[in-house]
Amino acid sequence: MKILAIETSCDETSLALIKSKQDKKSNLPKFKILKNLISSQIKIHQAFGGVVPNLAKREHLKNLPILFKKLSKENLNSKSTKLKNFLKSINILTVTIGPGLEPALWTGINFTKEIINQYKTLKIPKPKIIGSNHLLGHLYSFLLDPKITKNKIKSEKEIFPAIALIVSGGHTILILMESLFKYKKLGETRDDACGESFDKVARMLNLPYPGGPQIEKIAQFGNNKAIQFPRPMINEKNYDFSFSGLKTSVFYFLRNYKTIDSQTKNDIAASFQQAAFDVLIKKTFRAANEFGAKSIMLSGGVSANKTLRNQFSRLCRNEKKLFFVPPFVYNTDNAVMIAISAFILNQKNKNYRLIARGDLNI
Ligand code: KG4
Ligand code: ZN
Repeated sequence: MKILAIETSCDETSLALIKSKQDKKSNLPKFKILKNLISSQIKIHQAFGGVVPNLAKREHLKNLPILFKKLSKENLNSKSTKLKNFLKSINILTVTIGPGLEPALWTGINFTKEIINQYKTLKIPKPKIIGSNHLLGHLYSFLLDPKITKNKIKSEKEIFPAIALIVSGGHTILILMESLFKYKKLGETRDDACGESFDKVARMLNLPYPGGPQIEKIAQFGNNKAIQFPRPMINEKNYDFSFSGLKTSVFYFLRNYKTIDSQTKNDIAASFQQAAFDVLIKKTFRAANEFGAKSIMLSGGVSANKTLRNQFSRLCRNEKKLFFVPPFVYNTDNAVMIAISAFILNQKNKNYRLIARGDLNI
């Protein structure tokens, strides 16, 4: 089954083409990534210290036809046999409908509608159209972990029940997965998302947007025990998170300094990062023990952080749980994960209408 996916929920325009099939032996879906094109807008938004929705929209509008041409080798409005054959080969056409910035989401949705119109114009049968949920994309990106793609997992039974943690710029969600199709949200952040707090702390430290990778970069030269920042909600008997207080305590700490030398900056980054990770780790592993999870899955932009990946991986080894995290390119936003979520939605017979939903949840 060939899937063409479009992702424009934030500041990356991405188009992907994948081949997918259900592996009968393991009962797990397997994917072959034919194309994964990402056009990042980071440089444009950097000047403003964060994503500007209308600029994101403008860039998506500019990039979508360019990426489509790169992927199909034809302009979308072409009448060529080449484009006809390309479109005919697609079984599922999918686009992120939320959550995200609505002006940005609409660009992807409207471009999808243009593709659908082209099927009509060329008089060829339409593929299945699926509206995808960005969060399901992150959730199911664990299927790209080499343990699964390289057939180390012989059966889905080795994986579930599992605890999945999505940590991105917009979300921090803990999920219990009883099977590939059955999941339940256990908790989420009550204020800032984890990635958002990285971005805000980075700004306080005069580091460019997006702040997560910058914090990680300087944290490696800092002492993560230098400053005792709070670990909000770490001992509360629920699975919710809060990162706003942690961010504010960095702000108060910085008020004590007129200027700040680079070692102190590194120490702040390392100590802040560890405070955030301690909460993520404690709550995820508590959930894993409570629900007898066989594995733990980590996804979303913050999962690109090597310290976080290493700490999760080490603890999973100690606790004899499998650890799944997608390769680095698939941690931050990409259309491959949207294609994967569409494959799963299709199997579940679920779909979302092609209407942007900025606050869609899981
Ligand atoms: O999943 P994502 O690309 O977009 C959303 O769905 O929000 O996540 C972006 C977030 C940003 O807040 C960014 O600072 C953070 O992920 N991030 C990181 C790292 N790379 C990206 N946070 C910590 N360490 C990183 N290496
Ligand atoms: Zn994302």
